[in-house]
Amino acid sequence: MTGAVPTAFSTDLPTRIVAAGDTAIAEAARLLAAGLLVAFPTETVYGLGADATNGEAVARLYAAKGRPRFNPLIAHVVGLEAARQLAKFGPDALRLAQTFWPGPLTLVMPKAPGCRVAELATAGLDSIAVRVPDHPVAQKILAALGRPVVAPSANRSGHVSPTTAAHVLADLTGRIDLIVDGGATAVGVESTIVACLREPTLLRPGGLPRQAIEQALGRPLADAIAGGTEAGEAPLAPGMLASHYAPHTRLRLGAARVDAGEALLAFGPKLADDAAKAVLILNLSARGDTIEAAANLFSHLRALDAAGATAIAVMPVPHDGLGEAINDRLNRAAAPR
Ligand code: TXA
Ligand code: MG
Repeated sequence: MTGAVPTAFSTDLPTRIVAAGDTAIAEAARLLAAGLLVAFPTETVYGLGADATNGEAVARLYAAKGRPRFNPLIAHVVGLEAARQLAKFGPDALRLAQTFWPGPLTLVMPKAPGCRVAELATAGLDSIAVRVPDHPVAQKILAALGRPVVAPSANRSGHVSPTTAAHVLADLTGRIDLIVDGGATAVGVESTIVACLREPTLLRPGGLPRQAIEQALGRPLADAIAGGTEAGEAPLAPGMLASHYAPHTRLRLGAARVDAGEALLAFGPKLADDAAKAVLILNLSARGDTIEAAANLFSHLRALDAAGATAIAVMPVPHDGLGEAINDRLNRAAAPR
Protein backbone atom coordinates (compact mmCIF):
# COMPACT_ATOMS: atom_id res chain seq x y z
CA MET A 1 0.00 0.00 0.00
CA THR A 2 1.79 3.13 -1.17
CA GLY A 3 -1.00 5.49 -2.24
CA ALA A 4 -0.06 9.15 -1.92
CA VAL A 5 -1.80 10.95 0.92
CA PRO A 6 -2.82 14.49 -0.01
CA THR A 7 -2.14 15.75 3.49
CA ALA A 8 1.47 14.58 3.16
CA PHE A 9 2.31 17.78 1.31
CA SER A 10 1.71 21.22 2.63
CA THR A 11 0.46 22.66 -0.64
CA ASP A 12 -1.05 21.61 -3.93
CA LEU A 13 0.50 24.59 -5.68
CA PRO A 14 3.73 24.19 -7.65
CA THR A 15 6.81 24.91 -5.58
CA ARG A 16 8.04 28.48 -6.09
CA ILE A 17 11.68 29.52 -6.37
CA VAL A 18 12.54 33.07 -5.32
CA ALA A 19 15.92 34.80 -5.46
CA ALA A 20 17.40 35.48 -2.02
CA GLY A 21 16.71 39.04 -0.89
CA ASP A 22 14.82 40.89 1.82
CA THR A 23 11.38 40.02 0.41
CA ALA A 24 12.24 36.33 0.02
CA ILE A 25 13.69 36.14 3.53
CA ALA A 26 10.62 37.76 5.06
CA GLU A 27 8.36 35.38 3.14
CA ALA A 28 10.43 32.37 4.14
CA ALA A 29 10.11 33.31 7.81
CA ARG A 30 6.38 33.90 7.42
CA LEU A 31 5.80 30.50 5.79
CA LEU A 32 7.95 28.70 8.36
CA ALA A 33 6.02 30.38 11.19
CA ALA A 34 2.82 29.10 9.56
CA GLY A 35 4.13 25.51 9.65
CA LEU A 36 5.07 25.29 5.96
CA LEU A 37 8.26 23.93 4.36
CA VAL A 38 10.99 26.17 2.95
CA ALA A 39 14.27 25.11 1.35
CA PHE A 40 17.16 27.52 1.81
CA PRO A 41 20.92 27.55 1.29
CA THR A 42 23.47 26.93 4.02
CA GLU A 43 27.22 26.92 3.48
CA THR A 44 27.22 23.10 3.26
CA VAL A 45 24.15 22.02 1.25
CA TYR A 46 20.58 23.26 0.81
CA GLY A 47 18.41 22.43 3.80
CA LEU A 48 14.68 21.74 3.88
CA GLY A 49 13.47 23.81 6.80
CA ALA A 50 10.51 23.46 9.15
CA ASP A 51 9.73 25.22 12.44
CA ALA A 52 11.43 22.90 14.93
CA THR A 53 8.87 23.70 17.62
CA ASN A 54 5.89 22.62 15.46
CA GLY A 55 5.42 18.84 15.51
CA GLU A 56 3.06 18.75 12.54
CA ALA A 57 5.40 20.87 10.43
CA VAL A 58 8.19 18.42 11.30
CA ALA A 59 5.94 15.50 10.33
CA ARG A 60 5.19 17.12 6.96
CA LEU A 61 8.92 17.52 6.44
CA TYR A 62 9.50 13.75 6.83
CA ALA A 63 6.63 13.13 4.43
CA ALA A 64 8.03 15.53 1.82
CA LYS A 65 11.43 13.85 1.96
CA GLY A 66 9.86 10.42 1.72
CA ARG A 67 11.96 9.12 4.61
CA PRO A 68 10.96 5.60 5.60
CA ARG A 69 12.30 6.25 9.11
CA PHE A 70 12.25 9.05 11.64
CA ASN A 71 15.95 9.89 11.72
CA PRO A 72 16.58 12.68 14.19
CA LEU A 73 17.09 16.10 12.62
CA ILE A 74 19.55 18.94 13.13
CA ALA A 75 18.17 22.08 14.81
CA HIS A 76 19.62 25.21 13.19
CA VAL A 77 19.91 28.35 15.28
CA VAL A 78 21.29 31.82 14.84
CA GLY A 79 24.07 31.58 17.42
CA LEU A 80 25.40 30.15 20.67
CA GLU A 81 22.90 31.91 22.93
CA ALA A 82 19.98 30.42 21.00
CA ALA A 83 21.71 27.02 21.05
CA ARG A 84 21.91 27.15 24.84
CA GLN A 85 18.10 27.16 25.01
CA LEU A 86 18.13 23.75 23.32
CA ALA A 87 21.17 21.87 24.60
CA LYS A 88 23.43 21.50 27.63
CA PHE A 89 26.97 22.49 26.69
CA GLY A 90 29.84 20.78 28.47
CA PRO A 91 33.36 22.25 28.27
CA ASP A 92 34.25 20.35 25.06
CA ALA A 93 31.06 21.37 23.27
CA LEU A 94 31.53 24.96 24.35
CA ARG A 95 35.07 25.06 23.07
CA LEU A 96 34.05 23.56 19.70
CA ALA A 97 31.10 25.94 19.36
CA GLN A 98 33.21 28.97 20.20
CA THR A 99 35.92 27.90 17.77
CA PHE A 100 33.85 26.77 14.78
CA TRP A 101 30.41 28.41 14.88
CA PRO A 102 29.04 29.64 12.63
CA GLY A 103 30.30 26.86 10.40
CA PRO A 104 29.95 23.29 9.11
CA LEU A 105 29.98 21.59 12.51
CA THR A 106 26.97 19.94 14.17
CA LEU A 107 27.16 19.13 17.88
CA VAL A 108 25.06 16.39 19.50
CA MET A 109 24.47 17.24 23.15
CA PRO A 110 22.06 16.42 25.97
CA LYS A 111 18.73 18.18 25.48
CA ALA A 112 18.29 21.18 27.77
CA PRO A 113 15.37 21.13 30.21
CA GLY A 114 12.56 23.13 28.62
CA CYS A 115 13.92 22.61 25.09
CA ARG A 116 11.03 23.60 22.81
CA VAL A 117 12.02 21.39 19.88
CA ALA A 118 9.27 18.88 18.99
CA GLU A 119 9.83 15.29 20.20
CA LEU A 120 9.47 14.03 16.63
CA ALA A 121 12.42 16.16 15.46
CA THR A 122 14.73 14.41 17.93
CA ALA A 123 13.05 11.03 17.38
CA GLY A 124 12.29 10.87 21.08
CA LEU A 125 15.97 10.95 22.07
CA ASP A 126 17.32 12.78 25.12
CA SER A 127 20.03 14.28 22.93
CA ILE A 128 19.77 16.93 20.23
CA ALA A 129 21.89 17.87 17.22
CA VAL A 130 22.48 21.63 16.89
CA ARG A 131 24.29 23.74 14.35
CA VAL A 132 24.80 27.42 13.53
CA PRO A 133 25.06 27.76 9.74
CA ASP A 134 27.53 30.19 8.19
CA HIS A 135 25.44 31.55 5.35
CA PRO A 136 23.88 35.02 5.24
CA VAL A 137 20.55 33.75 3.87
CA ALA A 138 20.22 31.00 6.48
CA GLN A 139 21.24 33.44 9.21
CA LYS A 140 18.69 36.04 8.15
CA ILE A 141 15.85 33.52 7.92
CA LEU A 142 16.66 32.20 11.39
CA ALA A 143 16.86 35.72 12.81
CA ALA A 144 13.57 36.75 11.19
CA LEU A 145 11.78 33.63 12.47
CA GLY A 146 13.26 33.79 15.96
CA ARG A 147 12.84 30.04 16.46
CA PRO A 148 15.00 26.98 15.76
CA VAL A 149 14.58 25.41 12.32
CA VAL A 150 15.11 21.72 11.66
CA ALA A 151 16.63 21.17 8.25
CA PRO A 152 17.75 17.90 6.72
CA SER A 153 19.39 18.10 3.32
CA ALA A 154 16.72 19.20 0.83
CA ASN A 155 16.63 16.02 -1.26
CA ARG A 156 14.32 13.04 -1.51
CA SER A 157 15.36 10.24 0.80
CA GLY A 158 18.16 8.20 -0.76
CA HIS A 159 19.17 10.91 -3.23
CA VAL A 160 22.34 13.01 -3.01
CA SER A 161 22.34 16.28 -1.10
CA PRO A 162 21.53 19.38 -3.19
CA THR A 163 24.05 22.17 -3.65
CA THR A 164 21.89 24.38 -5.92
CA ALA A 165 18.26 25.50 -5.90
CA ALA A 166 17.77 23.62 -9.18
CA HIS A 167 18.75 20.35 -7.48
CA VAL A 168 16.17 21.03 -4.78
CA LEU A 169 13.48 21.77 -7.33
CA ALA A 170 14.26 18.60 -9.28
CA ASP A 171 13.78 16.48 -6.14
CA LEU A 172 11.03 18.24 -4.23
CA THR A 173 8.85 20.16 -6.64
CA GLY A 174 5.19 20.07 -5.61
CA ARG A 175 6.15 18.69 -2.17
CA ILE A 176 7.37 21.89 -0.52
CA ASP A 177 6.20 25.48 -0.46
CA LEU A 178 9.17 27.69 -1.28
CA ILE A 179 12.82 27.51 -2.34
CA VAL A 180 15.03 30.48 -1.56
CA ASP A 181 17.74 30.56 -4.23
CA GLY A 182 21.05 31.80 -2.86
CA GLY A 183 23.28 30.31 -5.55
CA ALA A 184 25.57 27.30 -5.25
CA THR A 185 26.68 26.33 -1.76
CA ALA A 186 30.36 26.84 -0.93
CA VAL A 187 31.25 23.70 1.05
CA GLY A 188 29.22 21.20 -0.94
CA VAL A 189 29.20 18.38 1.63
CA GLU A 190 27.18 18.11 4.83
CA SER A 191 28.40 19.33 8.21
CA THR A 192 30.73 17.23 10.34
CA ILE A 193 28.80 15.76 13.29
CA VAL A 194 30.48 15.37 16.69
CA ALA A 195 28.67 13.91 19.69
CA CYS A 196 29.58 15.60 22.99
CA LEU A 197 27.73 13.20 25.27
CA ARG A 198 30.74 11.41 26.74
CA GLU A 199 34.13 11.59 25.02
CA PRO A 200 33.76 13.75 21.90
CA THR A 201 33.00 11.28 19.11
CA LEU A 202 32.96 11.69 15.35
CA LEU A 203 29.53 10.56 14.10
CA ARG A 204 29.79 11.81 10.52
CA PRO A 205 32.78 13.21 8.64
CA GLY A 206 31.84 16.36 6.74
CA GLY A 207 32.76 19.90 5.84
CA LEU A 208 34.97 20.55 8.86
CA PRO A 209 38.08 18.32 8.90
CA ARG A 210 38.67 16.02 11.85
CA GLN A 211 42.17 17.46 12.36
CA ALA A 212 40.81 20.95 12.98
CA ILE A 213 38.45 19.60 15.62
CA GLU A 214 41.14 17.54 17.32
CA GLN A 215 43.45 20.54 17.40
CA ALA A 216 40.77 22.65 19.10
CA LEU A 217 40.08 19.88 21.63
CA GLY A 218 43.76 19.12 22.21
CA ARG A 219 43.09 15.39 21.88
CA PRO A 220 41.86 12.84 19.34
CA LEU A 221 38.17 12.31 18.62
CA ALA A 222 36.71 8.92 19.39
CA ASP A 223 35.48 7.25 16.23
CA ALA A 224 31.94 5.93 16.09
CA ILE A 225 32.58 3.95 12.94
CA ALA A 226 35.93 2.25 13.66
CA GLY A 227 35.43 1.61 17.38
CA GLY A 228 36.75 3.92 20.06
CA THR A 229 33.76 3.72 22.36
CA GLU A 230 34.35 2.35 25.84
CA ALA A 231 34.23 -1.41 26.33
CA GLY A 232 30.70 -2.71 26.70
CA GLU A 233 29.11 0.43 25.31
CA ALA A 234 27.05 0.48 22.17
CA PRO A 235 28.69 2.29 19.26
CA LEU A 236 27.47 5.85 18.82
CA ALA A 237 26.69 5.80 15.09
CA PRO A 238 23.73 8.03 14.28
CA GLY A 239 21.56 5.17 13.13
CA MET A 240 22.21 3.33 16.36
CA LEU A 241 21.41 6.36 18.48
CA ALA A 242 18.33 6.98 16.42
CA SER A 243 17.02 3.57 17.40
CA HIS A 244 17.74 4.11 21.08
CA TYR A 245 14.50 5.54 22.38
CA ALA A 246 12.04 2.90 23.49
CA PRO A 247 9.50 2.88 26.31
CA HIS A 248 10.14 0.70 29.38
CA THR A 249 6.61 -0.67 29.26
CA ARG A 250 6.10 -3.55 26.85
CA LEU A 251 4.31 -2.72 23.59
CA ARG A 252 1.60 -5.03 22.24
CA LEU A 253 1.16 -4.22 18.55
CA GLY A 254 -1.88 -4.69 16.35
CA ALA A 255 -4.22 -4.66 19.35
CA ALA A 256 -7.92 -5.10 18.51
CA ARG A 257 -8.96 -5.13 22.19
CA VAL A 258 -7.64 -3.85 25.50
CA ASP A 259 -6.88 -6.06 28.49
CA ALA A 260 -7.38 -4.79 32.02
CA GLY A 261 -4.37 -2.86 33.26
CA GLU A 262 -3.13 -1.92 29.80
CA ALA A 263 -2.74 1.58 28.39
CA LEU A 264 -4.02 2.21 24.86
CA LEU A 265 -2.25 3.96 22.01
CA ALA A 266 -5.18 4.49 19.67
CA PHE A 267 -5.40 5.48 16.03
CA GLY A 268 -8.50 6.64 14.19
CA PRO A 269 -12.08 7.43 15.14
CA LYS A 270 -13.07 3.95 16.37
CA LEU A 271 -11.34 2.72 19.53
CA ALA A 272 -10.31 -0.89 20.15
CA ASP A 273 -12.80 -3.16 21.96
CA ASP A 274 -12.90 -2.84 25.75
CA ALA A 275 -11.13 0.53 25.58
CA ALA A 276 -12.87 1.39 28.86
CA LYS A 277 -10.52 -1.08 30.59
CA ALA A 278 -7.48 1.03 29.67
CA VAL A 279 -5.71 2.89 32.46
CA LEU A 280 -5.01 5.68 29.95
CA ILE A 281 -6.01 6.24 26.32
CA LEU A 282 -4.10 8.53 23.98
CA ASN A 283 -5.06 8.78 20.33
CA LEU A 284 -2.32 9.39 17.74
CA SER A 285 -4.94 10.89 15.44
CA ALA A 286 -8.67 10.61 16.02
CA ARG A 287 -9.23 11.67 12.40
CA GLY A 288 -6.87 8.95 11.14
CA ASP A 289 -4.22 11.29 9.73
CA THR A 290 -0.67 9.90 9.67
CA ILE A 291 0.87 13.42 9.71
CA GLU A 292 -0.90 14.24 12.96
CA ALA A 293 -0.07 10.75 14.27
CA ALA A 294 3.64 11.19 13.59
CA ALA A 295 3.67 14.52 15.40
CA ASN A 296 2.13 12.84 18.48
CA LEU A 297 4.03 9.54 18.39
CA PHE A 298 6.94 10.10 20.77
CA SER A 299 5.13 12.33 23.26
CA HIS A 300 2.22 9.87 23.49
CA LEU A 301 4.59 6.92 23.97
CA ARG A 302 6.32 8.77 26.80
CA ALA A 303 3.05 9.67 28.51
CA LEU A 304 1.67 6.12 28.22
CA ASP A 305 4.98 4.73 29.47
CA ALA A 306 4.56 6.81 32.62
CA ALA A 307 1.02 5.53 33.29
CA GLY A 308 2.10 2.43 35.23
CA ALA A 309 0.33 0.09 32.80
CA THR A 310 1.10 -3.63 32.43
CA ALA A 311 1.58 -3.07 28.69
CA ILE A 312 0.81 -0.52 26.00
CA ALA A 313 -1.73 -1.90 23.55
CA VAL A 314 -1.14 -0.30 20.15
CA MET A 315 -3.93 -0.21 17.58
CA PRO A 316 -2.96 -0.91 13.96
CA VAL A 317 -1.62 2.10 12.03
CA PRO A 318 -1.99 2.03 8.23
CA HIS A 319 1.20 1.89 6.18
CA ASP A 320 0.45 4.73 3.77
CA GLY A 321 2.04 8.19 4.02
CA LEU A 322 4.01 8.51 7.25
CA GLY A 323 2.51 5.22 8.44
CA GLU A 324 5.55 3.35 7.18
CA ALA A 325 7.88 5.36 9.43
CA ILE A 326 5.45 5.18 12.36
CA ASN A 327 5.26 1.39 12.03
CA ASP A 328 9.03 1.15 11.71
CA ARG A 329 9.40 2.98 15.00
CA LEU A 330 6.66 0.99 16.76
CA ASN A 331 8.17 -2.31 15.60
CA ARG A 332 11.57 -1.35 16.93
CA ALA A 333 10.09 -0.11 20.22
CA ALA A 334 8.27 -3.43 20.57
CA ALA A 335 11.30 -5.60 19.78
CA PRO A 336 12.60 -7.63 22.76
CA ARG A 337 15.51 -5.92 24.50
O1 TXA B 1 25.20 20.20 6.54
C1 TXA B 1 24.25 19.69 7.14
O2 TXA B 1 24.36 19.19 8.26
C2 TXA B 1 22.89 19.77 6.43
C3 TXA B 1 22.48 21.22 6.32
C4 TXA B 1 21.12 21.41 5.70
O3 TXA B 1 22.54 21.83 7.60
N1 TXA B 1 21.91 18.97 7.13
C5 TXA B 1 21.96 17.60 7.14
O4 TXA B 1 20.90 17.00 7.82
O5 TXA B 1 22.83 16.96 6.62
P1 TXA B 1 20.50 15.45 7.65
O6 TXA B 1 19.14 15.31 8.32
O7 TXA B 1 20.58 15.06 6.24
O8 TXA B 1 21.54 14.69 8.53
C6 TXA B 1 21.44 14.77 9.94
C7 TXA B 1 22.23 13.69 10.60
C8 TXA B 1 21.59 12.32 10.50
O9 TXA B 1 22.58 11.37 10.14
C9 TXA B 1 21.10 12.06 11.91
O10 TXA B 1 21.07 10.70 12.23
C10 TXA B 1 22.09 12.82 12.74
O11 TXA B 1 22.33 13.99 12.00
N2 TXA B 1 21.54 13.20 14.06
C11 TXA B 1 20.60 14.13 14.31
N3 TXA B 1 20.30 14.16 15.63
C12 TXA B 1 21.07 13.24 16.23
C13 TXA B 1 21.23 12.79 17.58
N4 TXA B 1 20.51 13.30 18.60
N5 TXA B 1 22.13 11.84 17.80
C14 TXA B 1 22.87 11.32 16.78
N6 TXA B 1 22.76 11.68 15.50
C15 TXA B 1 21.88 12.62 15.21
MG1 MG C 1 20.83 14.07 4.28
